[in-house]
Amino acid sequence: MKQRKNSLYPAVSDALATVMKSDWADTELRGLSPVAQAAFAAGRRAALSARFPGERLVIPAGNLRTRSNDTEYPFRAATEYVHLTGDQTQDAVLVLEPLATEEGGEGAGHAATAYLLPRSNRENGEFWLDGQGELWVGRRHSLTEAEQLLGMPCKDVRTVAAELREATGPVRVVRGHDAGIEAALTDKVTAERDAELKIFLSELRLVKDEFEIGELAKACESTARGFEDVVKVLDRAEATSERYIEGTFFLRARVEGNDVGYGSICAAGPHATTLHWVRNDGPVRSGELLLLDAGVETHTLYTADVTRTLPVNGRFSPLQRKIYDAVYEAQQAGIDAVKPGAAYRDFHEAAQRVLAEKLVEWGLVEGPVERVLELALQRRWTLHGTGHMLGIDVHDCAQARVDAYVDCTLEPGMVLTVEPGLYFQADDLSVPAEYRGIGVRIEDDILVTDDGCRNLSDGLPRRSDEVEAWMARLRG
Ligand code: GLY
Ligand code: MN
Ligand code: MN
Repeated sequence: MKQRKNSLYPAVSDALATVMKSDWADTELRGLSPVAQAAFAAGRRAALSARFPGERLVIPAGNLRTRSNDTEYPFRAATEYVHLTGDQTQDAVLVLEPLATEEGGEGAGHAATAYLLPRSNRENGEFWLDGQGELWVGRRHSLTEAEQLLGMPCKDVRTVAAELREATGPVRVVRGHDAGIEAALTDKVTAERDAELKIFLSELRLVKDEFEIGELAKACESTARGFEDVVKVLDRAEATSERYIEGTFFLRARVEGNDVGYGSICAAGPHATTLHWVRNDGPVRSGELLLLDAGVETHTLYTADVTRTLPVNGRFSPLQRKIYDAVYEAQQAGIDAVKPGAAYRDFHEAAQRVLAEKLVEWGLVEGPVERVLELALQRRWTLHGTGHMLGIDVHDCAQARVDAYVDCTLEPGMVLTVEPGLYFQADDLSVPAEYRGIGVRIEDDILVTDDGCRNLSDGLPRRSDEVEAWMARLRG
């Protein structure tokens, strides 16, 4: 057992060790029901099993990362592990063990086991002397409890590395989460075969099931409340900084969900033209715009990804409104292009066309529009792609093949963001001075349905006049 260096206590006496072992109640939880996503996770494991018959598949949850010395960053389980188990335990490993048929061949599927750290041992003192002992970090589920919750067999994770080292036959591991597990498999795996596993799991998340859609809808609802919280305290943000906005949204994310799904972008004034402005340490000034890109992540780790660009004083100036309304029109054209059977690229192209038309109309780029689009000249001010898949990861399904993602046809159950923007940098000499330092993005989370799409984040207004009315109402 580790005794912390520089501990104020001397070594543990035998008498103290004996005292600490005894008189603890039995707290085993009995008759637990499976978590809501257990059946969905089982279906995903079945799809994985069918894709890799006869192979051992290893999907780690990942480990804590050190912040300094013996303090760690908050743990966030690996997406693949969460998707396949519904669990978020640190250091855990899911193993799909291939089953042989009676004839000894493949095709009998896999047995799935979640390897988890069990409850702390009281006999050997680990529960109070080890840094990961339950007395320090809180009660864990027993393996029996976890089996009931996850709906699959669970074993002690401390045996998994040795078991994997000794196992024979083909094996693949999801890399990048657990160096110890990868080290145990180092002689048995190849980067190429492991990449195939990761790609398959990324593509398995392209179409969301009913549970996932429900979670994403919840994430959007909490996010809408977080944006309302921000509007209500904008005057206090004005007196402090963008940090007040970040903190306000974070409070909602932590109270209603697990966390924010990505670092909140709280970009006031010219910071709105920096796409990933997460320093959030600038002033918030009346007369300028606030671009807030933030999303609540639910307890099951599904995140929203929503942007609103708000006039700090509640009213758009004529130029701000002109730019905002152009982005709104582009976003609407993008959303209108989201339907089953459409090419994934359609929403991007529809939105970019509107923005290119506006830039030509305003005299910022020389037409005709077709030439601008062909050379992608609008990109100087539109900067980024118009959206991406959304799910457990904010940029979900990122390892999917190009054919399966950007070159795919939309299907019911896909969820994607539609988020065009226009950004005029403060030092952009190619535009009139009054444009400089204005950035606008509007971002919503769109579910492809059987006959079109549904905006999961429509709890927040998008049109400029509706944004103003909403802000006026919230600010009383
Ligand atoms: N919040 C990052 C993005 O919109 O993609
Ligand atoms: Mn996004
Ligand atoms: Mn975003």
